[in-house]
Amino acid sequence: MTTRTRVTVEPRACMADPQLDVMNFLNEAVMEFPAAVSFAPGRPREDLFDVRGHVQSLDEYVRRVAAIPHSGGADAVWQAMGQYGPTNGVCAEAIARHLRVDEGIDVDPRAIMVTVGAQEAMAILVAGLCEPERDVLLVSHPTYIGITGIARVLGVRVIPVESDDDGLDPERVERVIGALPAPARVRAVYDIPDFNNPLGTSMPVERRRALLEVCRRAGVLVIEDNPYGRYVYDHAPRPTIKSLDAEATCIYVGTFSKTLFPGLRVGYLVADQEVVSSGRTLAEELSRVKSLITVNTPPLLQAIVADALERHDGRLGPLIAEKVERCKRQRDAMLAALAAQLGDLVPTVSWNVPSGGFFLTVTLPFPFGVPELRECAKQFGVVVSPMTFFCVDGSRSNQIRLAFSYVGPDRIAAGVSRLAAFIRHRIAAGDAGAGA
Ligand SMILES: Cc1ncc(COP(=O)(O)O)c(C=O)c1O
Repeated sequence: MTTRTRVTVEPRACMADPQLDVMNFLNEAVMEFPAAVSFAPGRPREDLFDVRGHVQSLDEYVRRVAAIPHSGGADAVWQAMGQYGPTNGVCAEAIARHLRVDEGIDVDPRAIMVTVGAQEAMAILVAGLCEPERDVLLVSHPTYIGITGIARVLGVRVIPVESDDDGLDPERVERVIGALPAPARVRAVYDIPDFNNPLGTSMPVERRRALLEVCRRAGVLVIEDNPYGRYVYDHAPRPTIKSLDAEATCIYVGTFSKTLFPGLRVGYLVADQEVVSSGRTLAEELSRVKSLITVNTPPLLQAIVADALERHDGRLGPLIAEKVERCKRQRDAMLAALAAQLGDLVPTVSWNVPSGGFFLTVTLPFPFGVPELRECAKQFGVVVSPMTFFCVDGSRSNQIRLAFSYVGPDRIAAGVSRLAAFIRHRIAAGDAGAGA
């Protein structure tokens, strides 16, 4: 018998970067520590997904589409859903209407590409816009791992621009752009102005205008990622950067992951910039990249989105009212529990009060990294995310991100009490001040 040696493989060096494990960790933490209360993943609650309702409604949707002249009838509509589809999608009209009525963003459907979640939009933007040898992506910092991770894989340099309590500071962005020596070129600035992931901050309107102006002058694109903007609790929704953008400086990224359900995997990008060489929109031009990544977003899933939007005249409000109300209650429960459990330790321990979204930031008097995460999960029964997970430079070692989106109020109270026990244990052990 011949003995065969199995082939061994090493992936590219960038795969060893611990940053690339964060997304998987956040998605799998719930399974790794099943007994713990998990404030780690930014997930919406499953009990508010109406998956069956959306699927059952498709029959009626097909009847409506089949009634449109030249649609070919119901069989043809069903068959088209089973076929490969146009690269940039089939529900762009429904999304354009939604953006007009809900967000005050008025764009031609040709400027919209329907993607497999916002994540694919980010991959397409970095791959289609950034020359790895020359271009630099600025990111508000700390930031969502989905953008920095894909830039790492694609070999695009990222420069962090530190956020403050009001999010990204346009003056700081201007200074970083001005300080970059040629031939390096800042291609785009990525930010999540509404209820930032991970910080929970929200950018004031004046900063939004100023950021647009700074970037327009410098010939730099703004990439506005807005998964949480509809989850607003304490004030009227602020205008998106894209809705203030008269000169096509901003590319907008949206998703139905948090408003409908994340397993749908439908997102989109709005890129209404004109491509000089072709006269097409940037969204149309980028279809070349999408065609090589996912070919097209599943038409069946796009039909769910088109149906849901059409049934409510393009408005998401009626579809998400209960989700927003529940998430607000969870935010309130978390703030109340933090005050009750840790109020006496302020300002040694402190936290921000987000006016919307899924997340808040807690600042501790000691460093909190992976060892603390494991100890906290195993011995105290609560999982949280170290802020360093969202940092490209190891900064913010004494902060953690808490997600209040996934756990009901009772479990939130229990989880915060466990977290408080861990923090007191660490402080008593003499850690206070170490990372402050
Ligand atoms: C800031 C941000 N952008 C994008 C996404 C990913 O969205 P999708 O599920 O549409 O890929 C998330 C998900 O958590 C997010 O927090």
